[in-house]
Order: sequence, then structure tokens, then C-alpha cells
Amino acid sequence: MSTTKDNAAILQMRNRNIPKGVFNVTSAFIREARGAVMVAMDGRELIDFAGGIGVNNVGHAHPKVVAAIKDQVDRYIHCCFHVAMYEPYVELAAKLNELAPGDFPKMTMFTNSGAEAVENAVKIARHATGRPAVIAFDGGFHGRTLLTMTLTGKVKPYKYGFGPFAPETYRMPYAYCYRCPFGLKYPSCGVSCADYLETFFVGNVAPEQTAAVIVEPVQGEGGFVTPPPEYFPKLQAICRRHGIVFIDDEVQSGMGRTGKLFAIDHWGVAPDIVLLAKSLGGGLPLGAVTGRTELMDEPHVGGLGGTFSGNPVCCRAGLAVLEVLTEDGLLMRTEALGVKIRARLEELRNRFGIIGDVRGKGPMMAIELVRDRETKVPASEETKKLVQLCYERGLVLIPAGNFGNVIRTLMPLVITDKQFDRGFDILASCMETLSAF
Ligand SMILES: Cc1ncc(COP(=O)(O)O)c(C=O)c1O
Repeated sequence: MSTTKDNAAILQMRNRNIPKGVFNVTSAFIREARGAVMVAMDGRELIDFAGGIGVNNVGHAHPKVVAAIKDQVDRYIHCCFHVAMYEPYVELAAKLNELAPGDFPKMTMFTNSGAEAVENAVKIARHATGRPAVIAFDGGFHGRTLLTMTLTGKVKPYKYGFGPFAPETYRMPYAYCYRCPFGLKYPSCGVSCADYLETFFVGNVAPEQTAAVIVEPVQGEGGFVTPPPEYFPKLQAICRRHGIVFIDDEVQSGMGRTGKLFAIDHWGVAPDIVLLAKSLGGGLPLGAVTGRTELMDEPHVGGLGGTFSGNPVCCRAGLAVLEVLTEDGLLMRTEALGVKIRARLEELRNRFGIIGDVRGKGPMMAIELVRDRETKVPASEETKKLVQLCYERGLVLIPAGNFGNVIRTLMPLVITDKQFDRGFDILASCMETLSAF
């Protein structure tokens, strides 16, 4: 669609016609986007460290994704998998079953979004176990539908005023080592935050009433909180002991974001069900629920599905994304990208006292900003200012964390060296400006 309106005019129109609850991180309207760069209406180039909130791992408009979409659109766009089946759905399911962690038979169903993938995983776990309860974690984010909002561990803005919430959901503390909820230190803590699940059963919900534990391997919206190596093996062992389905929400951390196709592979754990969305569709709405065959195949005929779920155009895009990541070698190059990001962030920590923590896995890295490294008071206002300053200088960033004091790196994995350096140079110059305030 071509337009003669400028950014300010469309912004005015946006404010008249679209509710403010539908939030915006920047005031930019985009004319086009390729790789790791977005071009605004006024021609300004923006380096993209947000990647459409983790959707553009293979980059904006990757040529292979665009070609697959165009080819599919020319054939057929929608017939509904429940009415007349098509091969791309089956092909993509088979690929994910083969690639997902775990040396056991798996099945996959598709959804339109990450939240819908979570909803379906919970439905499947409840049906298969005959139990009602679901345990999630503080700081976790699982979506904006009633159930997924309930599971989410941050009140403002996600839950505030939107209750009553879904029943039989519980939340326990997470392995947030920088701000340990138990006041302990790794490794002398013995990762007792994982063992705590057994204590949690005593005061909150019985294990034999618990269908599933749902967890992000690296918390996305929670601020890229990354548990130590022992955490998930311990958590999974407890789940196994009690017949609880272990659901791994990789909606943000999956599809190569951490340097591996599946983030949980860093912990050597094979979940019972793994969830993907965001980057799976290369920019089109697509989510996946992949899990043990005996769980996935348990619900009755007609119990799972959706009109648009696993749309053929989205599935073709998903197949192209997987090809780019695995066969074209993008995944192999992400390890080096992760090392480069960590080096730049460590360098910033050495220069600026406001950075309290540098953490993450592979290219999924973050800095947590604090007013004082001793007291760790969150520098939430400063983070907001930093994001705005960066935007004004041509770098798009999105904050995270329960205190809004974390800056995360979600840049497309295809980012060029020049774009990478430009992005980090802008971030460094803005931190310098911020420290002079
Ligand atoms: C870990 C995680 N799960 C679920 C969701 C929800 O996905 P969607 O926004 O596609 O519904 C998100 C979105 O940010 C997420 O980060």
C-alpha cells in the first residue's frame, strides 16, 4: 500500500482509531524492512535490536521466506486443515517432530500464536493426566489470553484490572540468581530453588492434582533470566517423579535465539511438550505444540484445532525458516554472534556503573540496569530514557523485566557486522549521555 501521509499524520489517525491499550514502544511507522534494518516513513534507517519482539530471527523479509510465501499464495491460501488437508502442515509437523529434543516419538499441532500454543499445551496436559492444576513461575510470560495472562508472573500492565483469573493456576519463585528470591548465592545454594517445588506442593497444590509445570528456559519478558545448568534437570526429575507434564515454553527463546534451535538443549533436558511461535513463522502468525505422542494423541477427535491454525502460507514460511536456520547454516553462525554481543555488553558494564548484570545464552543477551550495584535498586526510569534516546539516534530496543529495567538483544541473527557495530555504538553513546544527566 502506498501512502502520501507522513509519520505525524498517520500517528494522529492511529490515536483517533486505535485504543491506547494496544501499546507502541516507538512512534515510528515503517515503510519497509530488510534483514536487521527498518526504514521509517521519513526515510530514517533504524537498526533493529527488537526483531518484532523476537519474531525476525532470520531477518525481515528473508528472500527464502518471501519466495515460499509468494509461491504458496499463488497455489491456495486457506482451505482449513480440518476441512481439506494440505502437505505443508504435515511436512512442517514432521520436521519439528524430528528436530525437537527427545529420543521418543512426537507429534505436532499448529496454532496462530504463542498464547494459543500455551492454551493447547495445557488442554493436552489436563486431558492426558486428568488433573486440573498448572504451575508457572514468577517473572514468566505466557501471553495475553485469560489462561496465559493468569499464568504470567507480572501484574502491570498484563493483568491489572483484567481479573478474575483462570482457576487452578499456581506460581512459584524462579531461578533469578541476580535477585535470588531465597537470598542465596550460586553455586553454594545447591540450586535449591528447583528442589523448592517439593516444598511448594505442601503449601500450594498437591502433585497428584498437578497436570503440568510450564516454564521458559530463558525468561523473555521477565528479563532474560537464565537459570544455572542444574536447574532444569532437577525440575524435570521432580515432574517425572510425580507424573507431571513438563512444558517448555520456547516461544521467545526458541528458533536459534540462544544459539541452539531449542534453548532447553543448553540444559540437556527433553521436555514432554515444547512450544514455539514468534520466529517459527518468519513474520507470519504461527505457533506449534510438539510433544510426546502418547500425550499429544490423547485428546479425542475434534478436541484440538482452529479455523486458521496451521494456515498453509504460514507453514510454508515455517519450512523456509527452518531451512535457513538448519540447512543454510545460520544457526551455526549464531554462536559467534552471541560471543560478540556478550563482549560488547561486558565492555559497557566496565564503563557504566548503571549496568548491574549481564546475562543470557548465545545471542539472547540482556543487561539489567540498577541505580546502585550494591543495593540493586532497579533503574526503571533510566531504562525508559535510554530506550527513547536510542530510538532518536536510530536504534530500536525494547525493555524487559518485572521492573522494566532490562535491555535485551533480539536483533535478527542475520545482522551484518556494520549494522551490529552501528547499533552498539549508538547504545554506548546513549549510555554516555544518560550517565551525564
Ligand atoms: C515465552 C512466551 N510465551 C508466550 C508468548 C505469547 O505469544 P503471542 O504474543 O504470540 O501470543 C510470548 C510472547 O511474548 C512469550 O514470550
